[in-house]
Order: sequence, then structure tokens, then C-alpha cells
Amino acid sequence: MLIEELDILKNTVLGEIDLIQYSERKKLADIRVRVFGKNGTLTLISKGMRDVEPQDRPRVGALINEVRNAIENSLAMKENQFKNQELNEKLENEKIDITEPAKCQSKGAVHPISDVIDKMIDICVKMGFSVVEGPEVESDYYNFEAMNIPKNHPSRDMQDTFFINDNILLRSQTSAVQAREMEIRKPPFKIICPGKTYRNDSDSTHSPIFHQLEGLVIDENVSMADLKSMLTILMKRLFGEDTTIRFRPSFFPFTEPSIEVDVSCPTCHGKGCSLCKSTGMLELLGAGIVNPKVLEISGIDSKKYRGFAFGFGLDRTAMILNSIGNIKYLYKNDIRFLDQMK
Ligand code: DAH
Repeated sequence: MLIEELDILKNTVLGEIDLIQYSERKKLADIRVRVFGKNGTLTLISKGMRDVEPQDRPRVGALINEVRNAIENSLAMKENQFKNQELNEKLENEKIDITEPAKCQSKGAVHPISDVIDKMIDICVKMGFSVVEGPEVESDYYNFEAMNIPKNHPSRDMQDTFFINDNILLRSQTSAVQAREMEIRKPPFKIICPGKTYRNDSDSTHSPIFHQLEGLVIDENVSMADLKSMLTILMKRLFGEDTTIRFRPSFFPFTEPSIEVDVSCPTCHGKGCSLCKSTGMLELLGAGIVNPKVLEISGIDSKKYRGFAFGFGLDRTAMILNSIGNIKYLYKNDIRFLDQMK
């Protein structure tokens, strides 16, 4: 009886296992429970051994073992086969084609003006300057009066200013931050301020929006020699060690004495080309020893302290560094132009 049952169990289960497809592989676990589980068929048959006649027990026991082994083996083989199949499927799905051409990512570029600002900040910070900002919408006071340019002063004509009302304007020079910083800082200090400035000017070298970088140093013993050596280092780091620098006397109401500074043309190295209009030199900035009146207006004791200041045209600097012929290119947002800045 038991022998027959075991035979039938073995044949049906083996047949069932044989028919299981990869997609139904969960069924293997079901069979395992159904046959070997707590109430599994073979488990129950084994329990029935108690009722078997003692002389038949060895034979029945051996048969139970044989059936168990046969089913175990068959399950293990199937499971193994499916495991391999699963692995192969995974490998197939995760296959990387190393011969496929790479997807090119187009890289952007830093705008030439931002690039000049970054470079200047880098050089100046190494020389001990702090970087400050000031408002672009400025008062007449900070833009002009505190810079020793009173109302109706003729030098206002040089900066065709956008007024919003009698007292508010778009700053025409970053020099406006000088007075703001002198009011709040205690000397000695060294600051630079890069930023946007505005004037009603427009041609191939002028734009209504442009950029300046202002510098101010206030200390007890500051001289023209300090200003000249500091500017020489700055220019050489910016345009190259072989750059020559020329200082010319000039006039600004906020500096006394005042100078203008030229550099040798980095394109032709002073020989003369279209960029420097055959002069070999390029005019770059104004500077000077801070007028004692300017110190006093902002509450700094001019008997104890002196200072030097400078103001760079950043658009011009960017044009020189990148041989850009027209300032308008800097503001057109033309991708063909920007692409060349990479
Ligand atoms: N603010 C002047 C301008 O826009 C440039 C300048 C000249 C700034 C001399 C300075 C300076 O700080 O000392 O033309």
C-alpha cells in the first residue's frame, strides 16, 4: 500500500517538476512545501512508518529515502537551471556596447567680462584686497558729491549720466563705492569693487551698460610709488610678464595728483596693430592719490591717512584680452560669438 503510494508520489511529482517552465519557476517552491513541508505528502508518509510491520520497515524506509532524494535532486536541478537562466537574462539586459559612440555634451564658456572679473579678483585678493559691492541705483551724493564733484561741476559733463530724479541716478562710476566704504570702514583697508556702470554713450567702444573695477587703499604712508608698483604687478599678471606700462599725468576731481595708465598692446607687443590703432599702447585706467578733500568728506582724517585709488574699464580689458573689435559683441548674447570664448 505505502509502497504503491510512494511510487505514485514519485512519478507524479517528478513529472510535474519536469513540465515547469522558466516563467512558472515559483511553482518549485510550492512543490517543496507540498512534499517536504510540515504537512507535506512525504512527511505524512514518513510518519506512517509507525504502522508498518517491523519486517517491512527497512524496505519502506529505503524507498522513502529514495523518493526524497529523487525529488530533491530533480528540484535542485531545475532550480539551478532557472538560476543560470536568470543570470543570463540579467547579463543580457545590462549589456554595455563599448563600441557605441559617446554622447557629446556641449560645454559652455565663461563670459569674457566675468572671466576678467574673476582674474582681477584672483590677483587682487592675493595682494590683500577685500571684494565689496555697491548699489547700481545710486544717489547723486555718493556718485558725485562725495567724490568731490559738486553740482554744476564741469567734470560731470564727461559722464553723461542717467538720472532717475534730481538725486537718484544709475551710477556712472564704481568710484561711488569709495565714499560708502570710507564711511563704514576703519583705516587701514584695501578694497576692490567690480560692477556695472551706466552712461548715455554708444559706439564701437562704448555701451550704455559697461563694467568697472574700482580699487581703494587707505593707510598712513601710502605713496604714488606704492600705486605704481601695485598697478605694474596687476597688469603684468593680467596681460603677461613682458607687458610694459606707461603712466601719464591726468586729472580727476577725486585724486591729486591723478594719472592715466596705458599698457603695451598684448596683440602686437608694442609694434602697432589695428587693436591699438598703430600706437602700440592701450589706455586702460585712471588712478591717483586720493584727494584729501574726498577723505574729509567721508570722515577720514586727512592729516593722518592717505590713500590711492584706481578705476579699470573691464569691458575694454576683456576686449583687449580676447581681441574683440566691438564692445556690442559682449552684450549681444550671440551664441556664435560666445562659442569662440571656450
Ligand atoms: N571713475 C573714473 C571714471 O569712471 C575712473 C577712475 C579714475 C577711478 C581715477 C579712480 C581714480 O578711482 O582714482 O572715469
